[in-house]
Amino acid sequence: MAVAQQTPINFAVMYATHDAFRRDLQRLAAAVAAGRATAPEVRDGWENFKHQLHVHHTVEDSDLWPRVAAAVTDRPDDQKLLDEMEAEHARLDPALAAVDDGLARNAPDLPARVADLTTLLGDHMRHEESAALPLIQDVCTTKDWDAFRGAMARKQGPKGAAVYFPWITDGQNATERKAFLDTMPGPVKVLNKLFWESSYRKRRMWGI
Ligand SMILES: [Fe+2]
Repeated sequence: MAVAQQTPINFAVMYATHDAFRRDLQRLAAAVAAGRATAPEVRDGWENFKHQLHVHHTVEDSDLWPRVAAAVTDRPDDQKLLDEMEAEHARLDPALAAVDDGLARNAPDLPARVADLTTLLGDHMRHEESAALPLIQDVCTTKDWDAFRGAMARKQGPKGAAVYFPWITDGQNATERKAFLDTMPGPVKVLNKLFWESSYRKRRMWGI
């Protein structure tokens, strides 16, 4: 059953998160190409990437796709799209494990493993952006979207937020930063600027 959409959903947080995944995989590929795969800062960046991806996909699977599924019970094509989203999430696991293993022993084919993961995740995010976000816009309300974002915030918790926000704003230009932060409550922006970004920078993830 399609729900009449009154206010368009703002997907800025989703696009910003996807862009952060793309940025991290570029940094990983650059570090591997430069022979820095075993550097502690690169490992730290990789561990954080995996954590953020796990949180993102776990909460999509538990709190986003079921909301959409409930609205498309009479639309088989849309149900198929949701099945594809979950299947694509699952297909990433072996690609992540292959990079993990390649990093652990600095495998000679590590660049190819990183490239495979980049292709798989890039294809999935493009699919989600081009097909699933328009479907969400069609059948979900801003209340549904806010409930999904609330679940994401609970999964991250306060400690997670202190890393998630500066991880997103890392490397953003002024327009991207504004689009992302404008969707956040005022106190979060202040905490990010005053505390979280400086702690994040000190970690020098990826050696940057
Ligand atoms: Fe996503």
